[in-house]
Amino acid sequence: MGEEFRFFELNNGARIPSVGLGTWQAPPGVVGDVIIAAVKAGYRHIDCARVYENEKEIGMALKKLFEDGVVKREDLWITSKIWCWCNYPEDVPVVLEITLQDLQLDYVDLYLVHWPLAKKKDIPGFTPDCFTALDIPATWREMEKIYDSGKAHAIGVSNFSSKKLEDLLKVARVPPAINQVESHPVWNQSKLREFCQSKGIHLTAYSPLGSPGTIWIKSDVLSNPVLDMVAEKLGKTLGQVALRWGLQMGQSVVPKSTNEARIKENFDIFDWSIPDDLFAKFSEIKQRRLIEGQFLIHELGPYKSVEELWDGEI
Ligand code: A2P
Repeated sequence: MGEEFRFFELNNGARIPSVGLGTWQAPPGVVGDVIIAAVKAGYRHIDCARVYENEKEIGMALKKLFEDGVVKREDLWITSKIWCWCNYPEDVPVVLEITLQDLQLDYVDLYLVHWPLAKKKDIPGFTPDCFTALDIPATWREMEKIYDSGKAHAIGVSNFSSKKLEDLLKVARVPPAINQVESHPVWNQSKLREFCQSKGIHLTAYSPLGSPGTIWIKSDVLSNPVLDMVAEKLGKTLGQVALRWGLQMGQSVVPKSTNEARIKENFDIFDWSIPDDLFAKFSEIKQRRLIEGQFLIHELGPYKSVEELWDGEI
């Protein structure tokens, strides 16, 4: 049973390790040690992004791991994402190069379009009118070019609704391998999951624990009574149950932690499972999106409401 959910196969034949370490909010000064601890604990998948502002230190940690012979490059899965600052088509290869330089890598295993919008170049900072629509066809053509070049072994998107994926699929020569979105037992993404499955797009769950440490997110995943009951019955922590639920739903998960004990705890989810009768109880959990993307909504921007951003999937 232990090996059952170690990897998920993508639509291009690549195999993504099912549990990755999320690196959002892991600050420089901390993130390097965290990466080293995670890889030593068995993680083979690191989820990065340009906007997390820590890729340089992650790169130094990776270099040390390779030099010390702890892991080989080909045994690691590294994801990065192009931020909406730079989601202009012509920026895609340029920004990928910066990421590759910072990570000290020749290629990433997966490159994602982080959010379905772009930021106007002539407006510095966050002002009400700073966002503009993403040119999906032109941006995706650039993503396909980097896929062809071998600098990204898979390409995909993040925070795309079924509708936006449908628009993308209409123009894609290389279909997206992954859509990375918020998913946990309190926001199970049932509609999007069904759509992705029907199109062969793998779903990766960010905030798979419901991001309990983020103050602006009103998280209640790790105090949910169903999880509590299942954790009690199985002798596992609520975090482990939330992550194992994700694997059994068929999604990879990228939990974040800067604490070595919890990094290990979150990886200890392979040699046990949630039995069917307990798994069925998760369908009773009232659903609620925790990360609405309010910061991207403005009357002058491409999305005037949360409903528009997610095309009604809220
Ligand atoms: P810490 O870094 O102190 O471990 P998510 O991945 O859903 O965004 O959640 C990340 C948050 O959850 C972080 O604040 C992290 O804090 C905390 N966390 C990580 N693993 C666990 C766990 N097993 N149980 C409880 N909280 C956890």
